[in-house]
Amino acid sequence: MASRDKPPYPPTQPSLLALRADAESDMQRMERLAAELHRHNYLYHTLDAPEIGDDEYDLLFRELEALESRHPQLRSPSSPTLRLGGGLLDGLDKKEHSRRMYGLENVFSEKELRAFVERMSRALPGCPLVFWCDPKLDGLALELVYENGVFTEALTRGDGIRGEVVTAAVRTIKTVPLRLHGKGPFPSQLEVRGEAVIYKDDFVALNKRQEEQGLKIFANPRNAAAGAVRNLDIAVTRSRPLRFLAYSTGNVVWNPIPPSQYHHDVLRRLRTWGFLTPPGGRLCSGATEAEEYASAARVRRKEFPVGIDGVVIKQDSLEAQEALGHTARAPRFAVAYKFPADQAQTLLERIEIQVGRTGVLTPVAVLKPVLVGGVVVSRATLHNEDEIARRDVREGDTVIVQRAGEVIPEVLGPVLALRPPNSRPYKFKRAEGVVGSDISPIRAELNMLVDIEKSPAGAEVVACPACGENTHREKDETAWRCSNPSCPAVRLRSIEHFVSKAGLDIQGLGANWITRLVESGRVASPADLFALTVDDLLRYEHMGEKLAQKFLSSLDAARQKTTLAQLLRALGIRHVGEQTAHTLAERYRDLDELAEAGFEELQALPDIGPKVASSIRHFFSGAANSALLSRFRQLGIWPQRPEKLKKPAPGPLSGKKVLFTGTLSLPRNRARQMAEGMGAVLAGGVGKGLDYLVAGESPGNKLEKARALGIAIINEAEFMRLLQPGAADIGK
Ligand code: IVH
Repeated sequence: MASRDKPPYPPTQPSLLALRADAESDMQRMERLAAELHRHNYLYHTLDAPEIGDDEYDLLFRELEALESRHPQLRSPSSPTLRLGGGLLDGLDKKEHSRRMYGLENVFSEKELRAFVERMSRALPGCPLVFWCDPKLDGLALELVYENGVFTEALTRGDGIRGEVVTAAVRTIKTVPLRLHGKGPFPSQLEVRGEAVIYKDDFVALNKRQEEQGLKIFANPRNAAAGAVRNLDIAVTRSRPLRFLAYSTGNVVWNPIPPSQYHHDVLRRLRTWGFLTPPGGRLCSGATEAEEYASAARVRRKEFPVGIDGVVIKQDSLEAQEALGHTARAPRFAVAYKFPADQAQTLLERIEIQVGRTGVLTPVAVLKPVLVGGVVVSRATLHNEDEIARRDVREGDTVIVQRAGEVIPEVLGPVLALRPPNSRPYKFKRAEGVVGSDISPIRAELNMLVDIEKSPAGAEVVACPACGENTHREKDETAWRCSNPSCPAVRLRSIEHFVSKAGLDIQGLGANWITRLVESGRVASPADLFALTVDDLLRYEHMGEKLAQKFLSSLDAARQKTTLAQLLRALGIRHVGEQTAHTLAERYRDLDELAEAGFEELQALPDIGPKVASSIRHFFSGAANSALLSRFRQLGIWPQRPEKLKKPAPGPLSGKKVLFTGTLSLPRNRARQMAEGMGAVLAGGVGKGLDYLVAGESPGNKLEKARALGIAIINEAEFMRLLQPGAADIGK
């Protein structure tokens, strides 16, 4: 029994790579490779403590793939290569749960919690009042089936009686063990229940990536997680940072091992079999301790890595659970103690359409200001036209507003009882008259779109509220998009982006000033900013000499310091975010050289696929963009790939490969520039050649990887010291 508390894998073993014994058959080799890959997956994804680098992992993986394609009949149904499963499903099949997946009854106060505990005592006199308490996760409930230790099937909760079969999607979730860890024996039948979630940090990074690539932004981690698991395209599931946290079991045939008697023991076993369980769970005695647990969790809600909306309090004795049983809807042995909802009702005064930098039309609810979870909310995104229809929200409705994922305000839906009698469903304004099928030639030249779904002649088309031109929907996208390069809204947002932190980070002038400069017509492109003079600025009311000087010196600093990568990102080329900009800036000397690069050449670069490559080509082949770039050159904004890439500048970091991770107290770009200024070479990822990993707060996976490779890890202060001339090696 005691051995179950041990980690399921022994610590470091010699690498398999070097170890193919001559006598080993392909089958034995495949088994060993599969076991070893499972072990590394678990170390990396579940424990965050990898033992080998990506390169070595890839070699093992590819060797197994090669053997499996040679001997398809020997491929195990739990092979780690199956996590890569691809392709589209036709639809989700449904299947009955062997035991119903009940919901939980909710309580909202200490009084209601005590009433629940008393009901339990009355229903089963003398039952122990020891509870397992853990956070109530806000994700998608799943049931995973294991037969003799091998993962065979996954179902969503569905209506509790029947769920959708999501086996292929769940197989791609890296924290789901495809076979139970350890030597066994295992229960012959084991149904593990838990929640598929996306951690908060991963969610923020996911949305940032989506935004940079011009893709859909998720309202909250729950939606992103549920959408990923139920997606018919398994590649989508695989690309989302899902985790599965196990919180209980369904039907279990323990034989041949002795059954657990306590819920906490079940969780312990699940952990030794390789599952993650909800963070911060513990045993509490009696209602008072459970109440203390709930209030502590409520206060510290933000510290949980995953979004939670309450705590779950469960009778710890499985025998007592069994005896207490269920009502028609919920178990009598468990309850959800929900945190007060960050929700409020208010009037939706009107719907405004915002046009973003990439031309996407986003409907925004303008709300009568209301306090939600301690913050005044007066605007909330409605995402797109389909979402408005799905939630049936209309102008003049009283709506329920929620701060979802603890950050982004969201309109959940209307309060129908309060709907005014004359209200009408909301539609985006259609363009007047019948619309032709094509886009105009100037826009065809300039827009950066790859895959426009042409509107059939006569079809309805939405007009851009900012410029009045027809917009279009791209294939597979929900958003209408304006591709008029002189649309005033697109222009303003592009210039705002150019100036923002994600662009050249030009400080000294607030967003209102940028709007005034653009709306007055003085600034029509980012290049115009660099041609501004003090006299130009002083023509504006409320502009003083001091502010004008401050702004111009910020611009001047940007002119001198801007790197090629920064400028590339600031230009807002579709699908070119921070990472891609860096890749391009490492490969090309300057914008001229990049402008010459062909499609094939671009596509051969790391992380650049056909979509990104053709977007880059499109950008550089447009006449207006060429004109913009010529002006940049004239105005002296023409960054070059630092020479030091070839011949490192003399300096304490000269020729050293450096990578940043986590949050630093200064902007990441600034830190990069400082490092480059001292002769450092910026690395793209953690690898053997890396000299320093500079770790800020919440560093994540890179730190573990660097640790595993024995790379010097330094903090921000140490990095700053390294920048001093004559600094000695630190951290080596
Ligand atoms: S235990 C019989 N524990 O809440 C007890 N459920 O409202 C079964 N949930 O569908 C559930 N976090 O998906 C349990 N720590 C947790 C949970 C949890 C989230 C979900 C679960 C269930 C829903 C019930």
